[in-house]
Amino acid sequence: MKCHTYLFSPTGTGRRIARAIAEGFAEADTQAGPVETTTHDATYAAPETASVPGDEAALFVVPVYGGRVAPTALQRLDGVRGAGTPAVVVVVYGNRDIGSAATELAAFVAERGFVPVAAGAFVGEHSYSTPATPIAAARPDAQDLDAARRLGREVARKLASGATPAAIDASRLRAARSPLLSLVRFILFVLRYRRQQKRRPVRLLPQTDAARCTHCGRCAALCPTGAIARGEEERTDPARCIRCCACVKGCPVAARSFTTPFAAVLARNFARRKEPVTLL
Ligand SMILES: Cc1cc2nc3c(=O)[nH]c(=O)nc-3n(C[C@H](O)[C@H](O)[C@H](O)COP(=O)(O)O)c2cc1C
Ligand code: SF4
Ligand code: SF4
Repeated sequence: MKCHTYLFSPTGTGRRIARAIAEGFAEADTQAGPVETTTHDATYAAPETASVPGDEAALFVVPVYGGRVAPTALQRLDGVRGAGTPAVVVVVYGNRDIGSAATELAAFVAERGFVPVAAGAFVGEHSYSTPATPIAAARPDAQDLDAARRLGREVARKLASGATPAAIDASRLRAARSPLLSLVRFILFVLRYRRQQKRRPVRLLPQTDAARCTHCGRCAALCPTGAIARGEEERTDPARCIRCCACVKGCPVAARSFTTPFAAVLARNFARRKEPVTLL
């Protein structure tokens, strides 16, 4: 059996989850023999291998942005095709909520010839997390990666059992709930923020501290959308930037930062640990 992983992961949390699920696939003791895994990383470009035969399997791992699948992930994966190929759909989120992302990803892959047979929602450090406003800092941790490997093993066994697996209803996958007060506070914050944006729109962008920047070019290399030009790292193209914070997290001298009022409100209201959830 062969499993193809397709992923989009600007800050790398989804990449770690994807690797652990693939490890679980590979170490599963199945009657059909070992599972061979291949990774197609779509963070920087659309994958070259886009067709997965029906007797193989696929794993899709994408981040949640605003309760949906990150739009750039869907653009990158648009050309991938299955032929009744079983697929595992996994969304990675920053400990707030997955919204409709799992349902959206399952529908997206189904439209392209895959059969979603399992789903998962895993927590990764929030893109906006900073030492002052930590949000799911250092996730995924060992426990998360164990859960990811377990999912890989369970899916591999299910697929190797021979029977054609039925499609799952990904809308049944729910992230752990947040306390009601936190939800109310967050909704009120978002409503206030939207009102302010209507009156005085402000397009937030990452900034570069010119005094610290060594022009190493790492942020430009890490940017999934080419919003930073090599040699002009203090500039960010507002039309290309998706605010993924890969440049901020990857700068070795902390010269890049992204200041957003969301960081404090998320850190305050979504501090309680949420465990991964799976459906198969
Ligand atoms: C623009 C944007 C919107 C986000 N929206 C959500 C969200 O709605 N819910 C949530 O829990 N996390 C949200 N996050 C956090 C990411 O889903 C989370 O950090 C994820 O681990 C990033 O995946 P990656 O490391 O694979 O890039 C958002 C992050 C960004 C950049
Ligand atoms: S990664 Fe940091 S130090 Fe390197 S060019 Fe970018 S902002 Fe400058
Ligand atoms: S410039 Fe924007 S899109 Fe590029 S890595 Fe930084 S936050 Fe992400």
